[in-house]
Amino acid sequence: MSHTTDTPPVPAEAPGPDERSRYRRATDAVDERLGIRAIQYPVPAHANTISYSLGGLTAVALVILIVTGIVLGQFYNPDPAAANESVRAIVNSVYLGRWIRGVHYWAAEAMYVLAILHLLRIYFTGSYKRPREGNWLIGVAMFALIIGGLFTGTVLKWDQEGFEALSHNLELGKLLGGLGFWFGTGFSSGVPILVRLYVAHVSIIPGLIVVLLFLHALLIKRHKISPNPANRTETGEPAEPFTHHLRRIAALGLLLLGILGVLAAVFPPGVGPTPVEGIEVTRPPWMYWWMFTLENWVGLSGILWGAVVLFALLVALPFIDRNPRRHWKQRPIAMGVGALVLITLIVLTVLEAVTTPGQHLTGM
Ligand code: HEM
Repeated sequence: MSHTTDTPPVPAEAPGPDERSRYRRATDAVDERLGIRAIQYPVPAHANTISYSLGGLTAVALVILIVTGIVLGQFYNPDPAAANESVRAIVNSVYLGRWIRGVHYWAAEAMYVLAILHLLRIYFTGSYKRPREGNWLIGVAMFALIIGGLFTGTVLKWDQEGFEALSHNLELGKLLGGLGFWFGTGFSSGVPILVRLYVAHVSIIPGLIVVLLFLHALLIKRHKISPNPANRTETGEPAEPFTHHLRRIAALGLLLLGILGVLAAVFPPGVGPTPVEGIEVTRPPWMYWWMFTLENWVGLSGILWGAVVLFALLVALPFIDRNPRRHWKQRPIAMGVGALVLITLIVLTVLEAVTTPGQHLTGM
């Protein structure tokens, strides 16, 4: 007698409508408690273009910096007597240490460049105008913090380049008089300034960036993404859920991570020997070159004045530019002034690249 005729048919393995409804029930239950579906609000199609995704990519670079920074923080020693040696140990002895340090370094460069490109997009599309002036100012503050992060990161490796960067920091602190108290060694005489810059690098600066980024995102949500000035049929523009935009940023972010990974493997950042006091021989990282040309011309105060003028212009921009138009063709003055500032910064940068580093510090 065969059993096959008596055995009931085995139910199919594939998920049926029941399984799906179980999944649906689970997501409904989570949504009811956390409201996750609220992020599916519609965003216009132009938000998915590369130029409108630069802010999102800057945020991806920040995440990469935080993750790799946490790993580096396990092996870096901010004691001035041990700092340089601990960086060498990361590079030579820690498993994947050289590569992770490389990704951290290249992510910092990428974040700086992406933030500038993002800023230029905002400028070009007039997106800093009413009602987004406040968000522009938050952006300017984040940009200043990014520069602060690059500076403190340079000092941490505690080689000749880092040491000379710190010496500039100390002299600039003196120039600032009472305002520069935090930058001097006397502010907290029991704690080496390297330790304080380390605290700024790993907690104060990234912490402030994260808080400001949260406010930045809230305001973007509140004002909605600015219209694309080149788009004449704004009302008829198709919209997609924000989750599609996030997916696109994630894909671009993976591409960015891949590029950073290759750069880290092929061009790992160097670390020099322990510093020698009293000499000034290194060239600062390229993002500071425009300031150092000014220093070559007028002395150390050139760095201070250059930075003050640039940031004063950035802060004042939405209040000076009262032209309500957003298309670049209808903003000849803004386009002219923007181009002038950009070309000046590029020329000053190139000039530093072609001159030999000079002696500027009073203590040298
Ligand atoms: C940590 C650095 C920054 C991050 C992660 C960031 C992130 C973002 C994101 C994701 C957006 C949505 C639109 C887009 O991606 O283009 C945005 C919009 C905006 N950002 Fe930023 N941003 C940063 C720095 C800046 C800077 C330096 C400025 C200007 C000084 C700025 C000003 C603005 C303004 C005004 C908007 C609204 C623009 C619009 O609606 O088109 N942001 N930002």
